[in-house]
Amino acid sequence: MSYNLLKGKRGIIFGALDENSIAWKTAERVHEEGGTFVLTNAPIAMRMGSINKLAEKTGSKVIPADATSIEDLEKLVAGAVEELGGKLDFVLHSIGMSINVRKGKHYTDQNYDWTQKGTDVSAMSFHKTMQVLYKQDAMNEWGSIVALTYMAAQRVFPDYNDMADNKAYLESIARSFGYFFGRDKKVRVNTISQSPTPTTAGQGVKGFDGFIAYAEKMSPLGNATAQDCADYTVSLFSDLTKKVTLQNLFHDGGFSNMGVSDAVMEAFVDKQEK
Ligand SMILES: NC(=O)c1ccc[n+]([C@@H]2O[C@H](COP(=O)([O-])OP(=O)(O)OC[C@H]3O[C@@H](n4cnc5c(N)ncnc54)[C@H](O)[C@@H]3O)[C@@H](O)[C@H]2O)c1
Repeated sequence: MSYNLLKGKRGIIFGALDENSIAWKTAERVHEEGGTFVLTNAPIAMRMGSINKLAEKTGSKVIPADATSIEDLEKLVAGAVEELGGKLDFVLHSIGMSINVRKGKHYTDQNYDWTQKGTDVSAMSFHKTMQVLYKQDAMNEWGSIVALTYMAAQRVFPDYNDMADNKAYLESIARSFGYFFGRDKKVRVNTISQSPTPTTAGQGVKGFDGFIAYAEKMSPLGNATAQDCADYTVSLFSDLTKKVTLQNLFHDGGFSNMGVSDAVMEAFVDKQEK
């Protein structure tokens, strides 16, 4: 259902790799709600992904950018403002990558070159994006910037590896930069802490199937899907959430406030009785 919540609003959506991507679902929802945007991803991901299909479907231009490159980001932001015909109202940072995770390097045995690369891609890219937006004065007042994160920033999930540290850094950047963006430009900055979701990045985490099944059983409302996340992000881009800023917003069916659920307890009670 469409409510025209984003009619007349313009933005940039990072990170749509394929149909499973949270950014892909968000782009489709933003389009349904009347928003216009530029799609972007790392040049290398463009070759693997099917972003052009999404661009066609949503009538969007694609501007490739490596989110760790200031030069690419400067071209992207200037290009988006020109293409869309004015300053921006929303930006979605939906980017994550850990080489240590990808190559199965344990948290206690990190390759620090890979760690640094992962931090640059997954967290510092958010600072770089906001710095470029800020310096180019590319955001309209009451605009909204959102990045996606995971609860491993606050609690231990052993197989999330160095991504846990990257997410803690990302969430801190949202608060620190969000202060200046709010004070100087009336722009809000938040992170959404999303349930485990079956995407390329999500499935890269060791033991993902067990992980997602456990979260499903722990959450009174069940896991939030990528589609649910798209809906929530639309609400944060809309004028209905103007005074929400500097927040890490849990979007996880209630998981983050659970101690234990009946469904999880049952598994242990059964085991003891067998
Ligand atoms: N899937 C989950 O379980 C889950 C849970 C919570 C949060 N998140 C977060 O959601 C966001 C989106 O991930 P997703 O699950 O949709 O997976 P995804 O693999 O579809 O998206 C990750 C994106 O990051 C992009 N990317 C990687 N390096 C880049 C670079 N240098 N420059 C620009 N883009 C780059 C990839 O090309 C890809 O499009 C990430 O921040 C992820 O950590 C995912």
